[in-house]
Amino acid sequence: MRTGCSTLKRALIITSDMASGPERTHSLFRLIKERFRPHLRWFVIGTGCAAVTAVAAASYGYLLKLVVEGLEDLAGPQTASVPSSLWWLIGIIGLAAALRSLSLYGMTLANNTGVQRAIVDIQADQFASLTEGDFARLSADRSGGFVSRFINDVNAIRDAGLRLANNLTKGVLTVIGVLITMFIMDWKLTLILLLVYPIAFGPVISLGNRVRKRSKRAQKQIGEVASLLSESFQSARVVKAYGLEEYQKGRAKRGFVERSRLFLKVLTDRAAVDPILEITGGLALVGILALTAWRIADGDTSLGNFVGVIGAVAVAAPEVRALGTLNAVAQEGGAAADRVFEIIDAEPQIKDRADARTLENARGSVEFRDVHFAYPDGSQALKGLSFSASPGETVALVGPSGAGKSTVFNLLLRLYEPVSGSVMVDGSDVRAYTGASLRRSTALVAQEALLFDDTVAANIALGRMGASLEEIKGAARAASAHDFILGLPGGYEAPCGEMGRNLSGGQRQRISLARAIIRQAPILLLDEATSALDAESEAKVQAALAEYAKDRTTLVIAHRLSTVRSADRIIVLDDGRVAEEGTHHDLIREGGLYKQLVELQLS
Ligand SMILES: Nc1ncnc2c1ncn2[C@@H]1O[C@H](COP(=O)(O)OP(=O)(O)OP(=O)(O)O)[C@@H](O)[C@H]1O
Ligand SMILES: [Mg+2]
Repeated sequence: MRTGCSTLKRALIITSDMASGPERTHSLFRLIKERFRPHLRWFVIGTGCAAVTAVAAASYGYLLKLVVEGLEDLAGPQTASVPSSLWWLIGIIGLAAALRSLSLYGMTLANNTGVQRAIVDIQADQFASLTEGDFARLSADRSGGFVSRFINDVNAIRDAGLRLANNLTKGVLTVIGVLITMFIMDWKLTLILLLVYPIAFGPVISLGNRVRKRSKRAQKQIGEVASLLSESFQSARVVKAYGLEEYQKGRAKRGFVERSRLFLKVLTDRAAVDPILEITGGLALVGILALTAWRIADGDTSLGNFVGVIGAVAVAAPEVRALGTLNAVAQEGGAAADRVFEIIDAEPQIKDRADARTLENARGSVEFRDVHFAYPDGSQALKGLSFSASPGETVALVGPSGAGKSTVFNLLLRLYEPVSGSVMVDGSDVRAYTGASLRRSTALVAQEALLFDDTVAANIALGRMGASLEEIKGAARAASAHDFILGLPGGYEAPCGEMGRNLSGGQRQRISLARAIIRQAPILLLDEATSALDAESEAKVQAALAEYAKDRTTLVIAHRLSTVRSADRIIVLDDGRVAEEGTHHDLIREGGLYKQLVELQLS
C-alpha cells in the first residue's frame, strides 16, 4: 500500500514535470493577457483600421472586374462615349486605394504604440525585479545573459506582438473577403487556384521559416562578436602590455569568419525565394492562362472575371505569406516571454519579514554569533565566526586573502543570509529589520571602489540623495579628496567615466570614502578603503576618519597592517573563523598569526 502510494506520488511528480512543456506556449497568452491588454485601446484602434484595410483590399478584385466589363462594353462597336458609371467606378477604385493606405497607416501607428508601451513596462519590470531581487542572483549569473534578455528577448516579443496585431486581423479578414469575392466572380477558377496555391507557396513559406531560424543563430553570434570586441577594447592595456595583439587578432578574425559563414547561409536561403516564386508563379500563370483561354472561348467565363480574380489573388498573396510565418514568430515570442517572465516572477529569497521593524537611530552595536555561511556555489566562507563590536569602537578585521573578511560585510548588509548562527545589529537579528532601514544605518566602502559614469559631486551625493554641495565638499574634505578634486578639469563637475575610469585607483577610493562619510550612518564598513593610497595620504585620511568615527561603529578590513595598528581591537580571521583577537600590543605579545603577518610585512 505504501509503495503504491509513493509510486503514485512519483507518477504525479513526473506528470507535473511534463506539464511544464506545454506551459511554455502559455507564456504567449499570459503576455497578451497581462502585458498587452492594459493597452487594449490602441489595439482596438489598430484592429478597426485593419478591418477597414481588409474590406478595401477585398473589394479591389471585384471593382476591377466591373471596370474591365465596362471597358469591354466600350470596345464594342455601338458605344460612342465613356458612360458616367464607368467614371464613377474608376473613382471608387481610387477611393478604395486611398482608404486602404490611410487605414494601413493608422493600423501601424496604433499597434506600434500599444506594443511599445507594453515593451517599456516589460523592460522596467524586468529591470526592477533584477535590481530589487537577490544580490546572489545578479552576482552568480553572467551579466551578458541578462543584457541579452533586455535586447534579444524583448525584440522577439516586439516582433511577435506587432505581427500578431498587424497581420492577424488584416490577414484573416483580407483572405476571407478576397475568397468570397473570388467565389462570386468565378468559383471554378477559385477552386483551381486553391489547389495550385499551396504547391507554389508551400516551399516559400517553409523556406521563410528556415531563414528565421538561421538568422536567429546568426543574431546570437553577433552578440558573441560584440562582447569579444568590447572585451578586447576594454582590456587594451593588458593586450598591449603582454603583447597579445596577434592572439586577439586571431580571436576576432575567427569571430568575423564565423559571422560571414552564418550570414551567407541565411542569404543562400533568402536568395532562393524569388527564383522559386518566379518559376512556380510563371508555371501557374501559363496553366491558368491556357485554361482561361479555353473557357472564355467556351463561354464559361469572362475576361472581367479573370482579371478580377487575378487582381484579388495579387492583393491576398502577401497576406497569406505573412500568415504562413506568423506561427513561427509567435512561437519565438512565446519562448522569449517565457524567459522574461522567469526573471519577472522570481521571488527574492531575502525579503523583509511581515513583522520587520524599521531600524531607526541605530546605536550601531554589531555581533556575529557562531555564523556559518557558504556561497551559492558551495564555497564555505565562514565556519563558526563569532565576534562583536560596540558603538564607538573601531574594530579591524585582518587575515589572509580568502579568510572571509569581505563576506562579513556581505552578511552584515544582509546581501546573503547565514546558513546557521546569527548576525545581530543593536541586539536583534538583522532579519528582524527591514532591509532598507538596515542598509540606511550602514555605509560601505567596497573593496572595488566603484564609481558611476557621472560627475564627482553626483557620485559622492549618492551616499545620501539630496545632499547639498556644501555637505558634499565637507565629506570630500573628510576623505582627503577635496584638494585633488579641485585639481580635476571641471572640479566637482568632472566626469568620473565608465566605472570611474577617468580617475586613479587612490582617487576612486577617496571618492567612495566621501560617499560613505556623507551617509552619516552609525555603522561604517571599510573594505580596503585606503589600500591604493600612498602612506602620507593614508595617514591624512586616517586622521580625518578618526574624528568622524568617534561615535560610530567602524569595521575596517586591511591587508596593510600599519593601517589597523591604532584600532581599538584587531580580529584575526583565518579560514572563516576567529584565530585571535586583541589590541595590536596584545597580539604582538602573544606571538601568534598576527605577529607573523606583521613581521612578514616589515621584513
Ligand atoms: N561571490 C562569491 N561566490 C562564491 N564564492 C565566493 C564569493 N565571494 C567570495 N567567495 C569565497 O569565499 C571565501 C571568502 O571570501 P572573502 O571575499 O570573504 O575573502 P577576503 O577575506 O575578503 O579575501 P581578500 O582579502 O582577498 O579580499 C573565499 O574562499 C572566496 O573564494
Ligand atoms: Mg575581501
